[in-house]
Amino acid sequence: MPPFLRELLDLLLRWVHLIAGIMWVGNSMLFNWLDRNLYQPEPDKQYPGLQGKIWMLHSGAFYEVDKKLLQPPARMPAMLHWFKWQSYTTWLTGASLLVVVYELGGRAMMVEASSPLSLLQASALGLGTVVGGFFTYDLLWRSPLKKVEAVLVPLTLALFGGAVFVLTHQLSGRAAYIHVGVLLGTCMSGNVFFHIMPSQRELVRATEEGRPQDPAIQWRAKQRSIHNNLLTFPLLFIMISNHFPSTFGNELGWVVLWVLMLGGAGVRYVMNIRFTWKPWRPALAGVVVLSVGALVALTLPRAAATPSSTDAVSFVRVAGIIERRCLPCHAAKPTDDVFTVAPKGVRFESPSQVKANAEKIKLQVVTTKVMPLANKTGITDDERELLGRWVDQGASLE
Ligand code: HEC
Repeated sequence: MPPFLRELLDLLLRWVHLIAGIMWVGNSMLFNWLDRNLYQPEPDKQYPGLQGKIWMLHSGAFYEVDKKLLQPPARMPAMLHWFKWQSYTTWLTGASLLVVVYELGGRAMMVEASSPLSLLQASALGLGTVVGGFFTYDLLWRSPLKKVEAVLVPLTLALFGGAVFVLTHQLSGRAAYIHVGVLLGTCMSGNVFFHIMPSQRELVRATEEGRPQDPAIQWRAKQRSIHNNLLTFPLLFIMISNHFPSTFGNELGWVVLWVLMLGGAGVRYVMNIRFTWKPWRPALAGVVVLSVGALVALTLPRAAATPSSTDAVSFVRVAGIIERRCLPCHAAKPTDDVFTVAPKGVRFESPSQVKANAEKIKLQVVTTKVMPLANKTGITDDERELLGRWVDQGASLE
């Protein structure tokens, strides 16, 4: 695919993905919050099927909402609003984006240059984990154990943890993180498609046929909806993770991802139960302090590592390394086979461009080693060390 076309597709898909995702997650948050703030009105105001009431204030008026099951002889309302296209659009654009940016983005986006995997094998592993992971998750929660959370929650965590471990050890950090994100997103949209929507269709059918509604069906939809709610925070981190090389570029990138996924889901969980659980404030603080503390412990040592030698590094040597290892991509007219414009507009053709990016070069090449991308240009550890030392010594152009 021509690079300009890929960039255009990337832009349009990403834009729609973000809009649909905000609408979907926004709905999930609002309905979850709403459910947990329902109250039971006085007995004389209650009627069969009523599950709770809530009053809200928004944009200049009051909204009065009743949560209920429609009991016969109640009739279907003339106009009923469903919430599903936000979810489907988010998934469709997200899955397409994955293919455009990674599977079609060239081998360097998927694996390190030293990896034994071909682009095709790497893509098969990534997509296979998404599809296989989703079906395993779904079967677990369809099984007779579906109400035994004490068993299924640890099994589900082990499943996602296994996907994190395998992908981060086989694919490049950024590709691994995003494929895990697509796995979570697929579970979420799959929950809407295979469980929540069919349950709702059954509720509607029962009402139309004048049958009583089955609370078991309602329960199944709610269980999957709560899973989706808990997965939102981990997924939102993964969506922005590619901006943070200290995470996906970390030697222990799989632990970092795992910590942030657990931390995100933990925060979401405590926020959900805060209306009925008094000690939620210290619990929330505990989750945040533990996760952020672990994140700092995992990323700080490399950032604070001191160079092994103190010999001065001349700019001539730095310029030689940059020319060989970086300019194939970071130039006005790159010679790389995939990148035909300087990635992110970052160019190293003049000494001042190199100096201006000195701190970023250290972070990308020395602290996290995410550049050169996939080490496509074969930089050596000695060269990385020289670049880092040059930055530490003040990035002089002498
Ligand atoms: C094979 C192509 C390729 C090579 C070679 C390469 N880069 Fe990059 N570089 C990229 C891509 C792609 C991005 C954009 C990554 C992204 O979107 O997060 C990038 C981004 C960057 C950024 C900007 C990061 C940010 O988020 O602001 C810096 C700095 C950078 N590279 C430094 C280097 C240095 C230094 C070298 C040489 C040691 C190098 N790169 C070699 C492809 C390459």
